[in-house]
Amino acid sequence: MSFIDGQAGVLEYRGYPIEDLSAHSTFEEVAWLLLYGELPSSAELEAFEADLARLRVPSPTLVKMVQAFPVTGHPMQALQASLAALGMVSPKVDLRDAASKDEAARRVIAVTPVLVALFERVRAGKEYVAPRADLSTAANFLWCLDGEEPAEIASKTLDCALILHAEHTMNASTFACRVVASTENDPYTSCSGAVGALFGPLHGGANERVLNQLSTIDGVDAVEGWYEAKAESKSKVMGFGHRVYKTKDPRAKNLQVLAVKLFDELGSTPKYDVALKLEEVVTAKLGGRGIYPNVDFFSGLVYEKLGLNTDVFTPIFAMARVAGYCAHWLEQHEDNKLFRPAQIYVGQRERSYAPMSER
Ligand code: SDX
Repeated sequence: MSFIDGQAGVLEYRGYPIEDLSAHSTFEEVAWLLLYGELPSSAELEAFEADLARLRVPSPTLVKMVQAFPVTGHPMQALQASLAALGMVSPKVDLRDAASKDEAARRVIAVTPVLVALFERVRAGKEYVAPRADLSTAANFLWCLDGEEPAEIASKTLDCALILHAEHTMNASTFACRVVASTENDPYTSCSGAVGALFGPLHGGANERVLNQLSTIDGVDAVEGWYEAKAESKSKVMGFGHRVYKTKDPRAKNLQVLAVKLFDELGSTPKYDVALKLEEVVTAKLGGRGIYPNVDFFSGLVYEKLGLNTDVFTPIFAMARVAGYCAHWLEQHEDNKLFRPAQIYVGQRERSYAPMSER
């Protein structure tokens, strides 16, 4: 599905460099590319977009279930539950039937943004806003969230951010998706499991923590001291480091360009200057060990400028990544084998049971 060169900072989806896709493509076109391996023709894309528009509308039962979720829950917990609930109200998936699998994968990609927006409105005590057939995935998310026609720059920026987050080889949550898929599960259950993995602060949950982290730094002059204290306490700086990238994550570079464009159009963000200084300080200290900004470092600044709540940043990551999860789910079912890793047992063996009186 995708290829990473961690030393050179390269990411390609089905062979296409991420820079070209984020500059020229759309999330819907990239979702097709990930699912089927080729860029769509205009007829294919038109039919795909019409399908997504049809599948984007959640059933009234599903809307009611999401509206019943406690507002004390985190939006990622709501999303994980919503995807499992989607499986409860959708037709059973026949894993031997390509059309049945396609429909289910497209349903997940289409309705996930609507489910994220719906829970945001539940938390704000607002009514459900149904998606529109004439808007893109990104624009529909903003429409369902605010009930207002989104500005072009907001839809375009979010569309690009969705492209950048759509797929990333065998990361923890994609691995979780494939493990669940390998037991012969549908994409609702597989993506629900994946969202559970993505919620963790070491993975997708980092983008929310990056912004919280920047909010605790009291201006550019405080960055050095803040970092020294962090290093002292041996705690990790959110938004930096990566298991594969040992240079600046190409997605971080693209999100940074997006952020600057947004600031030019809508006004700057003081946190951005702090972020630049933090990048300079951390890179100077840890760059030699291959620790550089990752995808999560600049994404929050983009989302905050779009007026989005900090704790919805990771669900936005998820509503993009479900395209990758579903592509992996389809591939897993092309030639499935149950995931069952071996283990190296290092404990004691063949011990004799001691009755309580002898313990
Ligand atoms: C994502 O896998 C993917 O592709 C994920 C992702 C995707 O698209 O799916 O790219 C999305 O999850 C990006 C990563 C978001 N997470 C964060 O920003 C959280 C902070 N980053 C770290 O937790 C860490 O960098 C990881 C978890 C991302 C990767 O760490 P590794 O490869 O497991 O390395 P490690 O934790 O063993 O660290 C190696 C050394 C350690 O020092 P020592 O114990 O050897 O002295 O590097 C240090 C770490 O302490 N280190 C950091 C650091 N990251 C690693 N030190 C300070 N700050 C950091 N951010």
